[in-house]
Amino acid sequence: MADPDLWRLSILTIGPAMPEVPEALEDEALSVSLFEIEDEATADPLGWRVDLLFRDPPDAEAVAREVGAAGVRVEGATIERVEPEEWARAAELRLPSVAAGRFVVHGSHARAEALADAVAIEIDAGLAFGSGEHATTQACLAAIDRLARRRRFRHVLDVGCGSGVLSIAAAKCWPARVLAVDNDPIAVRVARDNVRLNGVASHVQVENAEGYVHRVVRRWRPFDLILANILADPLIELAPALRRHLTPDGRAVLSGLLDRQADAVVAAHRREGLELVDREDRGPWVALVFGHRAAATRHSAR
Ligand SMILES: C[S@@+](CC[C@H](N)C(=O)[O-])C[C@H]1O[C@@H](n2cnc3c(N)ncnc32)[C@H](O)[C@@H]1O
Repeated sequence: MADPDLWRLSILTIGPAMPEVPEALEDEALSVSLFEIEDEATADPLGWRVDLLFRDPPDAEAVAREVGAAGVRVEGATIERVEPEEWARAAELRLPSVAAGRFVVHGSHARAEALADAVAIEIDAGLAFGSGEHATTQACLAAIDRLARRRRFRHVLDVGCGSGVLSIAAAKCWPARVLAVDNDPIAVRVARDNVRLNGVASHVQVENAEGYVHRVVRRWRPFDLILANILADPLIELAPALRRHLTPDGRAVLSGLLDRQADAVVAAHRREGLELVDREDRGPWVALVFGHRAAATRHSAR
């Protein structure tokens, strides 16, 4: 058997908190990928699997300790030899192309697979959330697709851009100026790379911001489309800011929430004068589309 070239270390963590991979480890590994493990029936977050690829066999216990040092509970670590060909195949298996509405999100290995009439978004698995495999990303893409059938948006804000997938979708739909923000500096770096990779860097600016708090957000507001695929609680907290940043006839696509959390999110936005105009369900996950009450009733649904 030929000598193996690569080693994969998989670390399992318990609990909903996404493990923070130390920057030094990120530099040392050839690649780092995070996969959320959910309860299949309820979509409750159970834990995470962190896969790190190394050229030389790593000290599994030391790496697991480093990942656990940031406060997550590490369940265990396994290490295995990976032939390069197998790694390439495994990456493909992990990241099949995903279609939602007019969009196909694919990795670099599947460029040729994107259909001619689809809007292709190229994202490779990495440290930022949003390679298209999660139901909330798909629900947002489907909602954007439906909105795009009815009107053009010119000024888009993506709060919690992760890999940049929704911003790239918006920039490929309309000749819009898109501002993408994330409070995770690693996501900002990944989103900038993906924006360049997809040829939309002249339309999309990516900044490190907590919610709406950034001078560029202030300077660019209001937005006629706001996208936010974050969790239910931050969405509820950010509802007043959303109202202030949305044009009177604007639309907001919100996700990161389960069906059972939708009533609370709708109620928080109704208190701000925002009405639900559309929703997109994907298993237990949902994306909600809002507009200001007056505009929502004037233009009926969506
Ligand atoms: C579920 S991911 C969504 C990524 C991508 N937009 C998608 O739809 O696939 C949520 C992202 O929001 C970011 N985030 C969470 N809360 C945030 C906040 N208050 N301000 C800015 N970014 C936030 C996280 O760092 C993460 O990258």
